[in-house]
Amino acid sequence: MSASSQDEADESGRRRAPLSRELACAARAIEALVAGRSLPAALDQSIELEAAREPLPIASHAAIRDLAYRSCRQLGLVREVAQLLNARPPAPAPAALQWVALAQLVDALRADPVVVDQAVDAARSLPGGAAIAGFLNATLRRFVREREALLETARRKPQARWNHPDWWIDRVRRAWPDDWQRVIEAGNGTAPMTLRTNRLRTTPGEYLSRLRSEGLAARLLGDQAIALEAAVPVEALPGWAQGLVSVQDAAAQLAAPLLAPEDGERILDACSAPGGKATHLLELADVELTALDVDEARLHSVRANFERLGFGAGAGVVHGVSPRAARPPTVVAGDAARPADWWDGRPFDRVLLDAPCTASGIVRRHPDVRWLRRRSDLATLSRRQSEILAALWSVLRPGGKLLYATCSVFPEEGESVVARFLANESRATRLPLQWRFGGCTPEPISTLLPVATPTRDHDGFFFALLEKRP
Ligand SMILES: C[S@@+](CC[C@H](N)C(=O)[O-])C[C@H]1O[C@@H](n2cnc3c(N)ncnc32)[C@H](O)[C@@H]1O
Repeated sequence: MSASSQDEADESGRRRAPLSRELACAARAIEALVAGRSLPAALDQSIELEAAREPLPIASHAAIRDLAYRSCRQLGLVREVAQLLNARPPAPAPAALQWVALAQLVDALRADPVVVDQAVDAARSLPGGAAIAGFLNATLRRFVREREALLETARRKPQARWNHPDWWIDRVRRAWPDDWQRVIEAGNGTAPMTLRTNRLRTTPGEYLSRLRSEGLAARLLGDQAIALEAAVPVEALPGWAQGLVSVQDAAAQLAAPLLAPEDGERILDACSAPGGKATHLLELADVELTALDVDEARLHSVRANFERLGFGAGAGVVHGVSPRAARPPTVVAGDAARPADWWDGRPFDRVLLDAPCTASGIVRRHPDVRWLRRRSDLATLSRRQSEILAALWSVLRPGGKLLYATCSVFPEEGESVVARFLANESRATRLPLQWRFGGCTPEPISTLLPVATPTRDHDGFFFALLEKRP
């Protein structure tokens, strides 16, 4: 009987597949990531394949995700260590298995012999299994013997020291000479599950008490966000189905208040899916909202969020309260850069452009992004952002305001886009933005670098508010 056909139990007594199977499954996802696939998609596919081959206990799904995410966060280091260990580069599948095993050994998360033996076992299921098993056995054992020296040598390379691609480190260092290490380190951390309360139904203080009374430890971040001590499935959040709360990073929660919608205004959220900021706008004022997105499939989540929060066509009936039932928002599929395809010609009072970007500010939530992006993406995305911004300017009424936002810390996607726009658009004025974080005095806002302290914990973002002079 092969090792993979015997299940084991974890510390909580839940049935688990042998570690060898979990390592092999995580490695397949990492191999796909390195070939350019997003890690969530790669994991879904690898787990599905594994489960189709032989039943896979549910507890192993989470364990495989943990293995893969840890490997992704340590990929710069383990690739460098592997180069030191290997006489020549292995094929993609054994290479990925070696990285996943090394990511476990680097932090000594399990007993070394267990990881080595199980990785060697996993190698046997790959084509050319015996040779690969021998190669892994030799290299992983050498790593265990020479761990400190190998890690020290590997960490002399920036990519291994910081677990980000060299071009990314260079770019952040040039943009933020005083803060670059903090920015990169924030990307290597993990983010809390952060909540936004629906102010039509509750307040942050009231909801915090409710969380605590239900045994969910949490803290307030400033005046509106709540960070949970440990993530939970959304269905476990009190009042989730009734629309009391949404999951949204604390920096993303600034977009809607910075645009400052007012009752009766006509507002466009031009890149709206999955609707985090669109629903916030609806919570803040009784507005006529159009939620646009180029990706029709992603608009389903916008509609679902409208429904859950009580802004759908059936609002009031579903939840018994009808906050904004008079004006259900409109959901439109279209390219923001081509208003002729979707605009009815009635100008908007305010526009939110939460533009597609590298996502360099949210690496802690999406650790695969750093390995998927290429340096050339910066110029391509910056051009695209400029095109969309210029196009949306035409749908804004004179005197109206547009908030340009990206979840990026690269100036090419923030300040450069806005500077180029202002140079070409004589009727545009950039208005100052500020925010009061916690009990402190208001701070000017443009690029927000990612921060993780007990009282202030948010992703990296860029905001610029532009007014169209009449
Ligand atoms: C950063 S996400 C938006 C997140 C959203 N604002 C929220 O708060 O939930 C960017 C979105 O822009 C959309 N997008 C990309 N290019 C677009 C375009 N040319 N026109 C409209 N939407 C676009 C993507 O499909 C994606 O849903």
